[in-house]
Amino acid sequence: MLKLPFMSNKKIALIPGDGIGPEVTQETLKVLKVLAPSFEYIELDLGGVAIDKTGSPFPDETRTKVKQVDAVLMAAIGGPKYDNLPREQRPETGLLGLRKELQTFANIRPAIVFNSLAHLSTLKEEVVAGTDLIVVRELTGGIYFGKPSSNDGYTGINTMIYTKPEVERIAHVAFKFAQKRSKKLCSVDKANVLNVSQLWRDTVIEVSKSYPDVELTHMYVDNAAMQLIKNPKQFDVIVTGNLFGDILSDEASMLTGSIGLLPSASLGDGSLPGLYEPVHGSAPDIAGKGLANPMAMMLSAAMMLRYSFNMQREADILEQSIQAVLAEGIRTADLGGNAKTADIGQAVMAKVEAALAKA
Ligand code: NAD
Ligand code: IPM
Ligand code: MN
Repeated sequence: MLKLPFMSNKKIALIPGDGIGPEVTQETLKVLKVLAPSFEYIELDLGGVAIDKTGSPFPDETRTKVKQVDAVLMAAIGGPKYDNLPREQRPETGLLGLRKELQTFANIRPAIVFNSLAHLSTLKEEVVAGTDLIVVRELTGGIYFGKPSSNDGYTGINTMIYTKPEVERIAHVAFKFAQKRSKKLCSVDKANVLNVSQLWRDTVIEVSKSYPDVELTHMYVDNAAMQLIKNPKQFDVIVTGNLFGDILSDEASMLTGSIGLLPSASLGDGSLPGLYEPVHGSAPDIAGKGLANPMAMMLSAAMMLRYSFNMQREADILEQSIQAVLAEGIRTADLGGNAKTADIGQAVMAKVEAALAKA
């Protein structure tokens, strides 16, 4: 069997969370154990499950331990049971706290239409086939965190704030991705209406001077939402704020056939562990039924191998194994198939084993 080069004892904090979270985590773990047997895991609570156990969506133990590992791999949190809690006690607030704690300001959300699935999108095959884009979403600022923020039953307030340094650092990340890809960057904002977006645009233009090889364009977010559906192949790297990026990445997921395929990497400046999380949520409507597609979490694990551990080969093997399983028609219900969550785990694991044995 192949000796894999970078297999030191990496420590990973695993956060299964709520709803389908534990189901997709289990399958991802199965595959990782074959691909990287030396990894060590600690399981931590976040979101609803943490509220049930401790009363807090982001318990102190989790806050401390996520900083003592090499990477954090989470599934999803939230659910209807917690929807009426005060904002600061909700599962989602726990996740925002985790992102803030790890200072993961750059959320990388690739949307790739796999050849074998182009016909499964709700859009026409010829429109989506060949799409390969990434949304670089600012993740620790903007309207998600701006103050004032309140709701007194009559007036609801949130504040969309960006400072110049916050825009500069996310712009640098996006330009660097663009340099490694087709050298095209589209910055998405609402500068025709919002002051915060004008600052965003001016700053991105300033940063662009350091990247003369990258072609920078700008698009208003409403138009971008439309263009993504009209002609997604015009995009390569999109950089945008927290809320716009949240919405556009869910939209982009349907180009690929299912949100159950979209991974993400949430990265900071490298001084703290990276956070890897699927784009999807806890999918309460299908939780506990074995219907969830675990591939978004598996692909998030592949991003972890790539970005936190520089294990490019293992990441390639995992991504190629997932694509091979899809190409064979082994698919969960979100992609029109009848495979269960555990069938996908089994099938991907078999492909990974075969790839390792061959090399
Ligand atoms: P969702 O992403 O959980 O589900 C939207 C739809 O997509 C549902 O029909 C669901 O069944 C389907 N879906 C999602 N993931 C799937 C998968 N892996 N396989 C197959 N189908 C999948 O979004 P929602 O319903 O708006 O939110 C549900 C809960 O999840 C809420 O509490 C929300 O706040 C939370 N949420 C959490 C995260 C996260 O943890 N990162 C992200 C989004 C939403
Ligand atoms: C996501 C989710 C989260 C967000 C929620 C659950 C806080 O929708 O990861 O996309 O809005 O960022
Ligand atoms: Mn979202």
